[in-house]
Amino acid sequence: MWGGRYKLGPSEIMEKINASIGFDKRLYAQDIAGSVAHADMLVAQKIITAKDGRAIKAGLAKVKAEIEAGTFKFSTKLEDIHFNVEQRLTDLIGPAGGRLHTARSRNDQVALDVRLWVRDAIDRIEPMLADLQAALIDRAEEYASTIMPGFTHLQTAQPITFGHHLMAYVEMVGRDRSRFADCRKRMNESPLGAAALAGSPHPIDPRKTAKALRFDGPMANSLDAVSDRDYVIEFIAASSMTAVHLSRLSEEIVIWCSAPFRFIALSDAFTTGSSIMPQKRNPDAAELARGKTGRIVGAFVALCMVLKGLPLTYGKDMQEDKEPLFDAADSLELCIAAMAGMVRDLKANPERMRAVASADYSVATDLADWLVREVGLPFRQAHHATGALVAKASEKGVDLGELSLAEMQAVEPAITKGVYGVLTVEASVKARKSLGGTAPANVERAVKEARRRFLGRRG
Ligand code: ARG
Repeated sequence: MWGGRYKLGPSEIMEKINASIGFDKRLYAQDIAGSVAHADMLVAQKIITAKDGRAIKAGLAKVKAEIEAGTFKFSTKLEDIHFNVEQRLTDLIGPAGGRLHTARSRNDQVALDVRLWVRDAIDRIEPMLADLQAALIDRAEEYASTIMPGFTHLQTAQPITFGHHLMAYVEMVGRDRSRFADCRKRMNESPLGAAALAGSPHPIDPRKTAKALRFDGPMANSLDAVSDRDYVIEFIAASSMTAVHLSRLSEEIVIWCSAPFRFIALSDAFTTGSSIMPQKRNPDAAELARGKTGRIVGAFVALCMVLKGLPLTYGKDMQEDKEPLFDAADSLELCIAAMAGMVRDLKANPERMRAVASADYSVATDLADWLVREVGLPFRQAHHATGALVAKASEKGVDLGELSLAEMQAVEPAITKGVYGVLTVEASVKARKSLGGTAPANVERAVKEARRRFLGRRG
Protein backbone atom coordinates (compact mmCIF):
# COMPACT_ATOMS: atom_id res chain seq x y z
CA MET A 1 0.00 0.00 0.00
CA TRP A 2 2.94 2.30 0.58
CA GLY A 3 5.54 0.17 -1.14
CA GLY A 4 6.76 2.71 -3.73
CA ARG A 5 9.93 3.61 -1.95
CA TYR A 6 10.36 0.31 -0.12
CA LYS A 7 12.54 -2.54 -1.31
CA LEU A 8 12.18 -4.92 1.61
CA GLY A 9 9.11 -5.99 3.56
CA PRO A 10 8.79 -5.34 7.29
CA SER A 11 10.42 -7.67 9.79
CA GLU A 12 8.16 -10.16 11.45
CA ILE A 13 8.24 -8.26 14.71
CA MET A 14 7.51 -4.97 12.93
CA GLU A 15 4.46 -6.54 11.36
CA LYS A 16 3.36 -7.85 14.72
CA ILE A 17 3.67 -4.58 16.63
CA ASN A 18 2.20 -2.57 13.77
CA ALA A 19 -0.86 -4.58 12.84
CA SER A 20 -4.19 -3.56 14.32
CA ILE A 21 -6.45 -5.68 12.16
CA GLY A 22 -6.87 -8.19 15.00
CA PHE A 23 -8.99 -5.66 16.85
CA ASP A 24 -9.88 -2.84 14.44
CA LYS A 25 -11.84 -5.19 12.17
CA ARG A 26 -14.66 -4.17 14.48
CA LEU A 27 -14.66 -0.84 12.65
CA TYR A 28 -15.55 -2.39 9.30
CA ALA A 29 -19.12 -1.08 9.09
CA GLN A 30 -18.07 2.44 10.06
CA ASP A 31 -15.10 2.28 7.68
CA ILE A 32 -17.29 1.28 4.76
CA ALA A 33 -20.00 3.84 5.59
CA GLY A 34 -17.31 6.53 5.64
CA SER A 35 -15.90 5.35 2.31
CA VAL A 36 -19.33 5.40 0.68
CA ALA A 37 -19.90 8.99 1.83
CA HIS A 38 -16.42 9.93 0.66
CA ALA A 39 -16.93 8.32 -2.77
CA ASP A 40 -20.27 10.09 -3.24
CA MET A 41 -18.61 13.40 -2.40
CA LEU A 42 -15.73 12.73 -4.82
CA VAL A 43 -18.26 12.11 -7.60
CA ALA A 44 -20.36 15.17 -6.74
CA GLN A 45 -17.24 17.32 -6.79
CA LYS A 46 -16.17 15.76 -10.08
CA ILE A 47 -12.93 14.51 -8.53
CA ILE A 48 -13.70 10.99 -9.77
CA THR A 49 -16.16 9.87 -12.46
CA ALA A 50 -19.67 8.70 -11.71
CA LYS A 51 -18.76 5.36 -13.25
CA ASP A 52 -15.85 4.85 -10.87
CA GLY A 53 -18.07 6.01 -8.01
CA ARG A 54 -20.65 3.34 -8.86
CA ALA A 55 -18.00 0.64 -9.12
CA ILE A 56 -16.52 1.68 -5.77
CA LYS A 57 -19.89 1.59 -4.02
CA ALA A 58 -20.85 -1.77 -5.51
CA GLY A 59 -17.44 -3.13 -4.53
CA LEU A 60 -17.73 -1.81 -0.98
CA ALA A 61 -21.15 -3.43 -0.63
CA LYS A 62 -19.60 -6.72 -1.71
CA VAL A 63 -16.74 -6.34 0.78
CA LYS A 64 -19.24 -5.65 3.54
CA ALA A 65 -21.27 -8.71 2.61
CA GLU A 66 -18.14 -10.87 2.64
CA ILE A 67 -17.15 -9.63 6.08
CA GLU A 68 -20.63 -10.24 7.42
CA ALA A 69 -20.77 -13.70 5.86
CA GLY A 70 -17.43 -14.54 7.48
CA THR A 71 -15.76 -15.28 4.15
CA PHE A 72 -13.50 -12.20 4.12
CA LYS A 73 -9.83 -13.04 4.62
CA PHE A 74 -8.26 -10.52 6.95
CA SER A 75 -4.52 -10.14 6.55
CA THR A 76 -2.04 -8.79 9.12
CA LYS A 77 0.26 -7.92 6.22
CA LEU A 78 -2.35 -5.30 5.34
CA GLU A 79 -2.05 -3.81 8.83
CA ASP A 80 -5.51 -2.52 9.55
CA ILE A 81 -9.15 -2.46 8.54
CA HIS A 82 -8.60 0.46 6.16
CA PHE A 83 -5.97 -1.32 4.06
CA ASN A 84 -7.78 -4.64 4.24
CA VAL A 85 -10.98 -3.15 2.86
CA GLU A 86 -9.23 -1.05 0.22
CA GLN A 87 -7.10 -3.95 -1.04
CA ARG A 88 -10.10 -6.25 -1.36
CA LEU A 89 -12.02 -3.48 -3.12
CA THR A 90 -9.23 -3.12 -5.67
CA ASP A 91 -9.07 -6.92 -6.12
CA LEU A 92 -12.79 -6.85 -6.86
CA ILE A 93 -13.14 -3.79 -9.10
CA GLY A 94 -9.64 -3.12 -10.41
CA PRO A 95 -7.90 0.28 -10.69
CA ALA A 96 -11.04 2.27 -9.84
CA GLY A 97 -10.55 1.00 -6.27
CA GLY A 98 -7.32 2.95 -6.15
CA ARG A 99 -9.26 6.21 -6.67
CA LEU A 100 -11.24 5.92 -3.43
CA HIS A 101 -8.36 7.17 -1.33
CA THR A 102 -8.12 10.45 -3.29
CA ALA A 103 -8.16 13.43 -0.90
CA ARG A 104 -8.15 11.16 2.11
CA SER A 105 -5.58 9.73 4.51
CA ARG A 106 -5.87 6.90 6.96
CA ASN A 107 -5.48 9.65 9.55
CA ASP A 108 -8.83 11.30 8.88
CA GLN A 109 -10.26 7.91 7.96
CA VAL A 110 -9.51 6.30 11.32
CA ALA A 111 -10.57 9.46 13.18
CA LEU A 112 -13.90 9.20 11.36
CA ASP A 113 -14.33 5.46 11.93
CA VAL A 114 -13.71 5.70 15.66
CA ARG A 115 -16.05 8.67 15.95
CA LEU A 116 -18.80 6.77 14.19
CA TRP A 117 -18.13 3.74 16.40
CA VAL A 118 -18.32 5.77 19.61
CA ARG A 119 -21.52 7.43 18.41
CA ASP A 120 -23.03 4.01 17.70
CA ALA A 121 -21.93 2.79 21.13
CA ILE A 122 -23.63 5.76 22.81
CA ASP A 123 -26.77 5.06 20.81
CA ARG A 124 -26.74 1.48 22.13
CA ILE A 125 -25.87 2.34 25.74
CA GLU A 126 -28.35 5.17 26.19
CA PRO A 127 -31.48 3.01 25.76
CA MET A 128 -29.91 0.28 27.90
CA LEU A 129 -29.58 2.81 30.72
CA ALA A 130 -33.18 3.86 30.19
CA ASP A 131 -34.17 0.21 30.49
CA LEU A 132 -32.24 -0.08 33.75
CA GLN A 133 -34.11 2.97 35.02
CA ALA A 134 -37.40 1.38 33.98
CA ALA A 135 -36.50 -1.75 35.97
CA LEU A 136 -35.51 0.28 39.04
CA ILE A 137 -38.66 2.40 38.84
CA ASP A 138 -40.93 -0.66 38.59
CA ARG A 139 -39.33 -2.28 41.62
CA ALA A 140 -39.41 1.02 43.54
CA GLU A 141 -43.14 1.20 42.92
CA GLU A 142 -43.57 -2.34 44.20
CA TYR A 143 -41.50 -1.59 47.33
CA ALA A 144 -42.65 2.00 47.88
CA SER A 145 -43.64 1.34 51.50
CA THR A 146 -41.29 -1.53 52.31
CA ILE A 147 -39.23 -0.46 55.29
CA MET A 148 -35.50 -1.04 55.46
CA PRO A 149 -32.71 0.45 57.52
CA GLY A 150 -31.01 3.47 56.02
CA PHE A 151 -27.30 3.48 56.72
CA THR A 152 -24.55 5.98 57.20
CA HIS A 153 -21.10 4.48 57.85
CA LEU A 154 -22.95 1.19 57.20
CA GLN A 155 -24.44 1.69 60.69
CA THR A 156 -28.21 1.75 61.08
CA ALA A 157 -29.16 5.41 60.90
CA GLN A 158 -32.88 5.91 60.23
CA PRO A 159 -35.62 3.79 58.71
CA ILE A 160 -36.14 4.38 55.00
CA THR A 161 -38.18 2.71 52.30
CA PHE A 162 -36.64 0.26 49.86
CA GLY A 163 -38.42 2.07 47.04
CA HIS A 164 -36.71 5.30 48.02
CA HIS A 165 -33.34 3.56 48.01
CA LEU A 166 -33.90 2.17 44.50
CA MET A 167 -35.04 5.58 43.27
CA ALA A 168 -31.70 7.05 44.34
CA TYR A 169 -30.10 4.95 41.60
CA VAL A 170 -32.67 6.15 39.07
CA GLU A 171 -31.33 9.66 39.64
CA MET A 172 -27.71 8.54 39.27
CA VAL A 173 -28.44 6.70 36.05
CA GLY A 174 -30.32 9.76 34.82
CA ARG A 175 -27.16 11.84 35.24
CA ASP A 176 -25.16 9.10 33.51
CA ARG A 177 -27.50 9.27 30.54
CA SER A 178 -27.13 13.01 30.34
CA ARG A 179 -23.33 12.64 30.36
CA PHE A 180 -23.50 10.32 27.35
CA ALA A 181 -25.93 12.64 25.58
CA ASP A 182 -23.63 15.57 26.26
CA CYS A 183 -20.60 13.66 24.96
CA ARG A 184 -22.53 12.73 21.82
CA LYS A 185 -23.51 16.33 21.16
CA ARG A 186 -19.94 17.60 21.49
CA MET A 187 -18.35 14.83 19.41
CA ASN A 188 -20.80 14.99 16.52
CA GLU A 189 -18.46 16.72 14.05
CA SER A 190 -16.79 15.09 11.07
CA PRO A 191 -12.99 14.93 10.74
CA LEU A 192 -13.21 13.80 7.10
CA GLY A 193 -11.44 16.18 4.73
CA ALA A 194 -8.51 16.86 7.04
CA ALA A 195 -6.66 14.22 5.00
CA ALA A 196 -3.22 13.50 6.46
CA LEU A 197 -3.21 16.63 8.63
CA ALA A 198 -3.22 19.78 6.51
CA GLY A 199 -6.35 19.48 4.39
CA SER A 200 -6.55 18.72 0.68
CA PRO A 201 -5.71 20.52 -2.55
CA HIS A 202 -8.67 18.78 -4.24
CA PRO A 203 -11.98 20.67 -4.44
CA ILE A 204 -13.54 18.50 -1.70
CA ASP A 205 -16.72 19.31 0.21
CA PRO A 206 -16.37 18.22 3.85
CA ARG A 207 -19.85 19.61 4.58
CA LYS A 208 -21.33 17.08 2.21
CA THR A 209 -19.66 14.06 3.83
CA ALA A 210 -20.48 15.41 7.29
CA LYS A 211 -24.14 15.68 6.36
CA ALA A 212 -24.25 12.26 4.72
CA LEU A 213 -22.86 10.71 7.89
CA ARG A 214 -25.34 12.61 10.11
CA PHE A 215 -22.78 14.90 11.73
CA ASP A 216 -23.71 18.44 12.69
CA GLY A 217 -20.90 19.67 10.43
CA PRO A 218 -17.19 19.27 9.65
CA MET A 219 -14.45 20.01 12.16
CA ALA A 220 -12.97 23.48 11.81
CA ASN A 221 -9.27 22.65 12.07
CA SER A 222 -7.60 19.86 10.10
CA LEU A 223 -4.80 19.36 12.65
CA ASP A 224 -7.32 19.00 15.46
CA ALA A 225 -9.46 16.72 13.30
CA VAL A 226 -6.77 14.04 12.96
CA SER A 227 -5.27 14.32 16.43
CA ASP A 228 -8.37 14.72 18.61
CA ARG A 229 -9.37 11.73 20.70
CA ASP A 230 -11.15 13.79 23.37
CA TYR A 231 -14.41 12.10 22.49
CA VAL A 232 -12.95 8.67 23.24
CA ILE A 233 -11.81 9.88 26.64
CA GLU A 234 -15.14 11.58 27.31
CA PHE A 235 -17.00 8.44 26.35
CA ILE A 236 -14.85 6.33 28.67
CA ALA A 237 -15.17 8.96 31.41
CA ALA A 238 -18.96 8.76 31.14
CA SER A 239 -18.63 4.98 31.11
CA SER A 240 -16.43 5.10 34.20
CA MET A 241 -18.92 7.22 36.14
CA THR A 242 -21.72 4.87 35.12
CA ALA A 243 -19.64 1.84 36.10
CA VAL A 244 -18.90 3.39 39.49
CA HIS A 245 -22.64 3.79 40.07
CA LEU A 246 -23.33 0.22 38.99
CA SER A 247 -20.49 -0.93 41.22
CA ARG A 248 -21.99 0.75 44.27
CA LEU A 249 -25.32 -0.94 43.64
CA SER A 250 -23.47 -4.21 43.02
CA GLU A 251 -21.75 -3.89 46.36
CA GLU A 252 -25.11 -3.30 48.04
CA ILE A 253 -26.56 -6.35 46.32
CA VAL A 254 -23.63 -8.45 47.55
CA ILE A 255 -24.15 -7.16 51.09
CA TRP A 256 -27.94 -7.53 51.00
CA CYS A 257 -27.65 -11.13 49.74
CA SER A 258 -25.21 -12.12 52.48
CA ALA A 259 -26.41 -14.38 55.30
CA PRO A 260 -26.06 -11.77 58.10
CA PHE A 261 -28.26 -9.37 56.09
CA ARG A 262 -30.71 -11.51 54.08
CA PHE A 263 -32.45 -8.34 52.81
CA ILE A 264 -32.86 -9.73 49.31
CA ALA A 265 -32.44 -12.97 47.41
CA LEU A 266 -31.50 -13.49 43.78
CA SER A 267 -32.89 -16.48 41.92
CA ASP A 268 -31.01 -19.30 40.21
CA ALA A 269 -30.93 -17.10 37.11
CA PHE A 270 -28.53 -14.60 38.66
CA THR A 271 -26.45 -16.65 41.08
CA THR A 272 -24.01 -19.53 40.87
CA GLY A 273 -23.27 -22.41 43.19
CA SER A 274 -20.01 -23.55 44.70
CA SER A 275 -18.13 -26.65 43.54
CA ILE A 276 -17.50 -27.68 47.15
CA MET A 277 -20.12 -26.04 49.37
CA PRO A 278 -23.56 -27.28 48.31
CA GLN A 279 -25.45 -24.62 50.25
CA LYS A 280 -23.78 -21.68 48.45
CA ARG A 281 -25.60 -19.18 46.26
CA ASN A 282 -23.15 -16.55 45.09
CA PRO A 283 -24.14 -13.20 43.57
CA ASP A 284 -21.45 -13.45 40.86
CA ALA A 285 -23.10 -11.05 38.41
CA ALA A 286 -22.98 -8.29 41.03
CA GLU A 287 -19.40 -9.15 41.92
CA LEU A 288 -18.40 -9.10 38.25
CA ALA A 289 -20.13 -5.79 37.61
CA ARG A 290 -18.21 -4.44 40.59
CA GLY A 291 -14.98 -6.01 39.30
CA LYS A 292 -15.33 -4.85 35.69
CA THR A 293 -15.45 -1.27 36.94
CA GLY A 294 -11.70 -1.59 37.42
CA ARG A 295 -11.24 -2.37 33.73
CA ILE A 296 -13.40 0.54 32.62
CA VAL A 297 -11.69 3.09 34.85
CA GLY A 298 -8.38 1.51 33.81
CA ALA A 299 -9.26 2.23 30.17
CA PHE A 300 -9.81 5.88 31.07
CA VAL A 301 -6.36 6.12 32.62
CA ALA A 302 -4.80 4.21 29.69
CA LEU A 303 -6.24 6.65 27.14
CA CYS A 304 -5.17 9.73 29.06
CA MET A 305 -1.64 8.30 29.26
CA VAL A 306 -1.54 7.52 25.53
CA LEU A 307 -2.43 11.11 24.64
CA LYS A 308 -0.70 13.17 27.30
CA GLY A 309 2.70 13.40 25.61
CA LEU A 310 1.64 13.36 21.97
CA PRO A 311 2.68 16.29 19.82
CA LEU A 312 0.25 17.28 17.04
CA THR A 313 -0.89 15.65 14.96
CA TYR A 314 -1.30 11.91 14.42
CA GLY A 315 1.03 9.45 16.12
CA LYS A 316 0.83 5.69 15.84
CA ASP A 317 0.37 5.70 19.61
CA MET A 318 -3.23 6.56 18.79
CA GLN A 319 -3.76 3.06 17.50
CA GLU A 320 -3.67 2.13 21.19
CA ASP A 321 -7.02 3.84 21.72
CA LYS A 322 -9.06 1.01 20.31
CA GLU A 323 -8.60 -1.96 22.61
CA PRO A 324 -9.34 -0.01 25.81
CA LEU A 325 -12.28 1.67 24.08
CA PHE A 326 -13.80 -1.59 22.86
CA ASP A 327 -13.18 -3.31 26.16
CA ALA A 328 -14.70 -0.47 28.18
CA ALA A 329 -17.81 -0.37 25.97
CA ASP A 330 -18.24 -4.16 25.96
CA SER A 331 -17.77 -4.37 29.71
CA LEU A 332 -20.17 -1.54 30.39
CA GLU A 333 -22.89 -2.95 28.15
CA LEU A 334 -22.60 -6.29 29.88
CA CYS A 335 -22.73 -4.68 33.33
CA ILE A 336 -25.82 -2.61 32.51
CA ALA A 337 -27.65 -5.63 31.14
CA ALA A 338 -26.66 -7.74 34.15
CA MET A 339 -27.77 -5.01 36.53
CA ALA A 340 -31.16 -4.61 34.85
CA GLY A 341 -31.50 -8.40 35.04
CA MET A 342 -30.65 -8.52 38.74
CA VAL A 343 -32.95 -5.61 39.58
CA ARG A 344 -35.84 -7.41 37.86
CA ASP A 345 -34.88 -10.71 39.48
CA LEU A 346 -34.32 -9.72 43.10
CA LYS A 347 -36.88 -10.53 45.76
CA ALA A 348 -36.93 -8.47 48.92
CA ASN A 349 -37.38 -9.91 52.40
CA PRO A 350 -39.55 -7.20 54.03
CA GLU A 351 -39.79 -8.94 57.43
CA ARG A 352 -36.04 -9.12 57.76
CA MET A 353 -35.55 -5.54 56.51
CA ARG A 354 -38.13 -4.23 58.94
CA ALA A 355 -36.62 -6.13 61.86
CA VAL A 356 -33.18 -4.67 61.22
CA ALA A 357 -34.66 -1.22 60.61
CA SER A 358 -36.45 -1.38 63.99
CA ALA A 359 -33.35 -2.35 65.96
CA ASP A 360 -30.54 -0.17 67.24
CA TYR A 361 -32.70 2.81 68.19
CA SER A 362 -33.24 3.88 64.61
CA VAL A 363 -36.18 6.10 65.68
CA ALA A 364 -34.10 8.10 68.18
CA THR A 365 -34.09 11.10 65.84
CA ASP A 366 -37.90 10.93 65.72
CA LEU A 367 -37.99 11.20 69.51
CA ALA A 368 -35.64 14.22 69.47
CA ASP A 369 -37.74 15.84 66.71
CA TRP A 370 -40.91 15.21 68.78
CA LEU A 371 -39.32 17.00 71.76
CA VAL A 372 -38.52 19.96 69.52
CA ARG A 373 -41.98 20.06 67.98
CA GLU A 374 -44.25 19.21 70.93
CA VAL A 375 -42.24 20.41 73.94
CA GLY A 376 -40.40 23.28 72.28
CA LEU A 377 -36.91 22.16 73.39
CA PRO A 378 -33.93 23.49 71.45
CA PHE A 379 -32.69 20.67 69.21
CA ARG A 380 -29.37 20.31 71.08
CA GLN A 381 -31.21 19.78 74.37
CA ALA A 382 -33.65 17.38 72.75
CA HIS A 383 -30.67 15.45 71.31
CA HIS A 384 -29.16 15.23 74.80
CA ALA A 385 -32.38 14.03 76.48
CA THR A 386 -32.90 11.45 73.72
CA GLY A 387 -29.35 10.23 74.21
CA ALA A 388 -30.09 9.68 77.90
CA LEU A 389 -33.27 7.75 77.01
CA VAL A 390 -31.36 5.58 74.53
CA ALA A 391 -28.80 4.82 77.25
CA LYS A 392 -31.59 3.88 79.67
CA ALA A 393 -33.36 1.64 77.12
CA SER A 394 -30.08 0.05 76.14
CA GLU A 395 -29.30 -0.72 79.79
CA LYS A 396 -32.67 -2.43 80.11
CA GLY A 397 -32.27 -4.17 76.77
CA VAL A 398 -35.53 -2.75 75.36
CA ASP A 399 -36.61 -0.47 72.48
CA LEU A 400 -37.35 3.20 73.09
CA GLY A 401 -41.08 2.56 72.72
CA GLU A 402 -40.87 -0.05 75.47
CA LEU A 403 -39.79 2.47 78.12
CA SER A 404 -42.68 3.43 80.42
CA LEU A 405 -43.96 7.01 80.51
CA ALA A 406 -42.60 7.35 84.06
CA GLU A 407 -39.15 6.25 82.90
CA MET A 408 -39.28 8.81 80.12
CA GLN A 409 -40.48 11.58 82.38
CA ALA A 410 -37.63 10.87 84.79
CA VAL A 411 -35.35 12.12 81.99
CA GLU A 412 -37.62 14.84 80.56
CA PRO A 413 -40.71 15.71 82.66
CA ALA A 414 -42.55 17.38 79.74
CA ILE A 415 -42.87 14.12 77.79
CA THR A 416 -46.50 12.93 77.36
CA LYS A 417 -47.87 9.65 76.05
CA GLY A 418 -48.23 11.22 72.62
CA VAL A 419 -44.56 10.42 72.15
CA TYR A 420 -45.31 6.74 71.53
CA GLY A 421 -46.96 7.71 68.25
CA VAL A 422 -43.60 8.59 66.68
CA LEU A 423 -41.59 5.64 67.98
CA THR A 424 -42.38 3.11 65.25
CA VAL A 425 -40.51 2.68 61.99
CA GLU A 426 -43.77 3.13 60.05
CA ALA A 427 -44.42 6.49 61.69
CA SER A 428 -40.82 7.48 61.11
CA VAL A 429 -40.84 6.99 57.33
CA LYS A 430 -44.37 8.32 56.95
CA ALA A 431 -43.33 11.57 58.62
CA ARG A 432 -40.43 12.16 56.26
CA LYS A 433 -42.47 13.75 53.53
CA SER A 434 -40.24 16.77 52.97
CA LEU A 435 -39.15 17.23 49.36
CA GLY A 436 -36.98 14.28 48.35
CA GLY A 437 -37.71 12.44 51.61
CA THR A 438 -38.36 8.73 52.09
CA ALA A 439 -42.13 8.72 52.87
CA PRO A 440 -44.06 6.08 50.90
CA ALA A 441 -46.29 8.80 49.46
CA ASN A 442 -43.20 10.59 48.18
CA VAL A 443 -41.86 7.41 46.59
CA GLU A 444 -45.15 6.84 44.78
CA ARG A 445 -45.02 10.38 43.46
CA ALA A 446 -41.32 10.08 42.56
CA VAL A 447 -42.08 6.91 40.59
CA LYS A 448 -44.68 8.74 38.49
CA GLU A 449 -42.43 11.75 37.99
CA ALA A 450 -39.45 9.58 37.05
CA ARG A 451 -41.47 7.79 34.38
CA ARG A 452 -42.29 11.16 32.91
CA ARG A 453 -38.82 12.69 33.35
CA PHE A 454 -36.76 9.75 32.18
CA LEU A 455 -38.97 7.45 30.15
CA GLY A 456 -41.27 9.94 28.48
CA ARG A 457 -44.28 8.13 29.93
CA ARG A 458 -47.30 9.43 31.77
CA GLY A 459 -47.39 8.13 35.37
N1 ARG B 1 -4.41 1.67 12.19
C1 ARG B 1 -4.17 3.06 12.36
C2 ARG B 1 -4.77 3.54 13.68
O1 ARG B 1 -5.52 2.85 14.22
C3 ARG B 1 -4.75 3.81 11.23
C4 ARG B 1 -4.09 5.12 10.91
C5 ARG B 1 -2.75 4.91 10.40
N2 ARG B 1 -2.17 6.11 9.93
C6 ARG B 1 -0.87 6.20 9.64
N3 ARG B 1 -0.45 7.33 9.22
N4 ARG B 1 -0.07 5.19 9.79
O2 ARG B 1 -4.44 4.58 14.18
